[in-house]
Amino acid sequence: MSSKHQPVYDGGGKRQVRSFVRRKGRMSDKREEEYRRLMPVHGISFRPEETDPAGLFPEPGEVVLEIGFGMGHATLELAAGNPGINYLGIEVHVPGVASVLSKIESMGLNNLKIIEHDAVEVLKYMIPRESFSGVHIFFPDPWPKKRHFKRRLVQTDFLNLLVPRVKMDGYIYMVTDWEDYARWMKEHLGAHPDLENRYDGYADALAWRPSTAFEQKGLDKNHIIRELFYRRKS
Ligand SMILES: C[S@@+](CC[C@H](N)C(=O)[O-])C[C@H]1O[C@@H](n2cnc3c(N)ncnc32)[C@H](O)[C@@H]1O
Repeated sequence: MSSKHQPVYDGGGKRQVRSFVRRKGRMSDKREEEYRRLMPVHGISFRPEETDPAGLFPEPGEVVLEIGFGMGHATLELAAGNPGINYLGIEVHVPGVASVLSKIESMGLNNLKIIEHDAVEVLKYMIPRESFSGVHIFFPDPWPKKRHFKRRLVQTDFLNLLVPRVKMDGYIYMVTDWEDYARWMKEHLGAHPDLENRYDGYADALAWRPSTAFEQKGLDKNHIIRELFYRRKS
């Protein structure tokens, strides 16, 4: 992996606890070339300046955010199936970003843009309030060991960044195959004063959600998939 990839900005001062570890992944020369050619076309560079996500797309429309899209199976399928909705995907895993860029190009999608950066910093420094009509967080890293709970993406501070950036009546949709993380998500989402659970407890499996690579890994281990669907109410 090239050392040029810089997924974080808050370098100095107190060491930040991140929700990810950079996984090394090999890319073929062809994929590396595509990544370099297509990032300026379908990618958005991180910059610590407020940027209206709706303005990043050629067509006007609501914007749905996906954090941690991995290899992008759900992202690509949703973007292809809903040309009237604009999708912004954030991911730090470079081979996933490269693969999605290549598919955006081959599928001719103009409603999917990618930011390769820590989503926490993107929300904090780039995204204005009331930007998204929906947010997808599908199978975030579970960090199952107690000493790693602080690395879980879903935390009170994270929700305090995310929720104001969702439009009123917009939704946050999380899915996990880790029972303990599902409970943790329910507690944290339920404690946020501006969110309302659209279901009594866990959500029904929503038929429109495409399955993902990590979902399949969970199913292979006989894990139960748990879904959480909340609305911004105030
Ligand atoms: C377990 S994988 C799930 C990938 C995909 N959603 C799926 O279901 O197959 C979690 C992904 O979230 C990404 N991720 C974790 N923390 C992130 C952050 N702060 N910003 C952007 N991506 C992050 C990781 O790089 C990883 O690819």
